[in-house]
Amino acid sequence: MIKGKLITIEGPDGAGKTSVLEKLIPLLNDSVTQEIVVTREPGGVAISEHIREIILDVHHTAMDNKTELLLYIAARRQHLVEKVLPALEAGHLVFIDRFTDSSVAYQGAGRGLCKREIQWLNQFATDGLEPDLTLYFDVPSEIGLARIEANKNREVNRLDLEKIDMHQRVRQGYLDLAKEQPDRIVTIDASKPLEKVVEVALGSVLTLIKT
Ligand code: TYD
Repeated sequence: MIKGKLITIEGPDGAGKTSVLEKLIPLLNDSVTQEIVVTREPGGVAISEHIREIILDVHHTAMDNKTELLLYIAARRQHLVEKVLPALEAGHLVFIDRFTDSSVAYQGAGRGLCKREIQWLNQFATDGLEPDLTLYFDVPSEIGLARIEANKNREVNRLDLEKIDMHQRVRQGYLDLAKEQPDRIVTIDASKPLEKVVEVALGSVLTLIKT
């Protein structure tokens, strides 16, 4: 039985998810009693990290869009079964850096695959598990891409090499999802200073925990 809460972190590349999480988790550790688990997709467990290497390899330019989608879905399933569900069953507060919405935004809006089919595959992979809360960090594509450029230490992956119009479609995909599911998805303006973004994110998580 699921006793914990699942919180997913979403946003286009360069939205600053990683920086926000680094500040948010210590603050939460000070204010909640539950154990906090932070993990990421694609990856989080050995099998899914292997799949991640295949997906993001800059040499894999021949990868078909449906192959890409199915690899993300396979990585998701393994990560869920091996790590996320046991943590939720133990009553932990689980944060995943990217989950089902990434497939809809990137492979759906970004790559042009059918949204309904992606949603079916997500449902198949997760047995219908939905996040209790999704923090969507929204940032205009120009700002997101400029941040990636400025952050020289970050590894460059195959998806970072995409042109600005792909990034714009991904953002639009997220905005559409946020409009469709306002109860689950909280949109946070990630073009604001980091401290402000962290404050809003913390407020949303604390509200969820109190309910
Ligand atoms: P990563 O280096 O983790 O990027 P970020 O720090 O922005 O999360 O690489 C993950 C990439 O995979 C990112 O560009 C988004 C993409 N992605 C998809 O296209 N579909 C998915 O279902 C997931 C989970 C990620």
